[in-house]
Amino acid sequence: MRKERILIVGANGQIGSVLTVALRNIYGQENVVASDIRIPQEISNSDPFELLDILDAQQLVRIIRKYQITQIYHLAAILSAKGELDPRHAWDININGLFNVLEASREYKLKLFFPSTIAVFGGDTPKHNAPQNTPLHPETVYGISKAAGENWCQYYHQKFGVDVRSLRYPGIIGYESMPGGGTTDYAVEIFHYAVKNEPYTCFLKADTRLPMLYMPDAIRATLEIMETPAEKITVRNSYNLAGMSFTPAELTAEIQKHYPDFTVNYVPDFRQGIAESWAESIDDSLARTDWGWKHDYDLVGMTSDMIAHLAV
Ligand code: SER
Repeated sequence: MRKERILIVGANGQIGSVLTVALRNIYGQENVVASDIRIPQEISNSDPFELLDILDAQQLVRIIRKYQITQIYHLAAILSAKGELDPRHAWDININGLFNVLEASREYKLKLFFPSTIAVFGGDTPKHNAPQNTPLHPETVYGISKAAGENWCQYYHQKFGVDVRSLRYPGIIGYESMPGGGTTDYAVEIFHYAVKNEPYTCFLKADTRLPMLYMPDAIRATLEIMETPAEKITVRNSYNLAGMSFTPAELTAEIQKHYPDFTVNYVPDFRQGIAESWAESIDDSLARTDWGWKHDYDLVGMTSDMIAHLAV
């Protein structure tokens, strides 16, 4: 068995920072190279680390050769809300960055993880239990780029045999890191206010139901799909993935079981329109059948675990 040498692109991000630690625990610190466009805030314990703008294909190849990389987790992307503020930049990062990674994966025969999203769905997707296979008419530049990205991944698999695996992540909630620029970000921010006994102003309406996943489940799903024997992976664009679905009002009520005085007021902004274009719940039965996906955390378990870690 060849020794795995892993490159994480976007290692400082919400998922990347947690996944880097998880992968280092499995493969060894020196075998997991973190990279990002910025130096990490916590310099200590960050090695090996390389600065990488994913639009710089030459630097990507230099890193792959330097460390004899065998797998890439390509997490760098501009998310749904931020993408709407500068669509051309979001398209550039999300698509041309992926191209660089796909080309390198083809040339150096790398196994690749590509995160997709519930943002690939659009207003015409069934709201409940959005199917694995359904027409994709995304309504954000982020969703458009990820839907195109999924298809490019499938193309590189079919045409060049690239072993690429992908998940359509719901909103990810974790205590270790903050999200940046997404529509589901409220579900992390709200906890940071609750534990400080400060009121929270939510940018979505109280009854906006969205699919969510707790970070430990998201990390485990990522590790599991990458470990699954290739012949079991029947989806090479991206697997639907689900854990729980809730509204801001339901999350608030759950937090109030721990902090009865906690209050939320609702001031919806442009992110409300984005949220309303997404499905409320996801049918992930193919992930469950193909590679045994099973989530651990529901709203109750996630909320108490978040508070246990964040409460001072
Ligand atoms: N959490 C993401 C976002 O809100 C969805 O993939 O943009």
